[in-house]
Amino acid sequence: MTAKYGHLIIVLYLTVSGRYVQSEPSCSKYDFEEKLLEKMVRIEFQMEQYKTQMEDSLKKLDNVKNDFDKKVIDTEEKIQEMMTDMNNTVITNANFIKNLIQNVDEINAKEAARTPVMFKAVMLADTTPSIGKTLIFKKILDNLGSGYNGNTGVFTVPINGSYIFGMTICPVNGLGIVAGFEVDGNRATVQAYYGGPGHECFSTTTTESLTQGQRVSVKRFGGYSTSVTIDQSDLYRWSMLYGALIHA
Ligand SMILES: *[C@@H]1O[C@H](CO)[C@@H](O)[C@H](O)[C@H]1NC(C)=O
Ligand SMILES: *[C@@H]1O[C@H](CO)[C@@H](O)[C@H](O)[C@H]1NC(C)=O
Repeated sequence: MTAKYGHLIIVLYLTVSGRYVQSEPSCSKYDFEEKLLEKMVRIEFQMEQYKTQMEDSLKKLDNVKNDFDKKVIDTEEKIQEMMTDMNNTVITNANFIKNLIQNVDEINAKEAARTPVMFKAVMLADTTPSIGKTLIFKKILDNLGSGYNGNTGVFTVPINGSYIFGMTICPVNGLGIVAGFEVDGNRATVQAYYGGPGHECFSTTTTESLTQGQRVSVKRFGGYSTSVTIDQSDLYRWSMLYGALIHA
């Protein structure tokens, strides 16, 4: 009985284990490869998806970059426009200021033209001026515009313009003096004054176009007498130098 069951157990065991052994090939090499393949396909699919996503992202990034570039260009254009506007404003203001300065200059010139310039001085400080010396008319009767200096005998032009000047001297009988006007040390007139028996007086007039700061005076250029050359007296003979602005 015991042996009989013993056989049965073995048979059962064999049957069970045999079945088990027989189901083993379902986990075979083929199955593994299939799974691997499946996995690879899945991975490939995922990769494909990643690629698409990445491409989308890149496209989006590209759009962002394009938008940004466009904004930068727009901003640059706006800055350029602003700078042009600013330049125009600066130019307009500069022109305005230039016109203003021009107007002020014109007003000043007109004002200056209205300022009287004239002087008159009489009596020589030295009636025996040596050759090369300036004749100094010392007694100032008029000096509008303060151009004339009674100590130096020089008229300094206060404003640009056309001027008229005159001088009168009365040489002693029989004596001569060569004299004339000088502008900045250059001879402007020259004349030989020769004294007659009546101690007559001689006058010279000249006109000059002068600019501010030029110097006008009378100089003895030559002549032969070395003694008292010029006759002058309060009652009969005035040595004179005078000048006036004709127009600015
Ligand atoms: C503004 O003016 C300056 C000087 O004249 C010039 O160099 C510059 O190019 C100008 N800018 C514009 C935006 O017009
Ligand atoms: C005077 O004339 C000079 C020379 O022509 C010129 O340079 C200067 O600007 C003038 N001055 C005025 C106040 O007009």
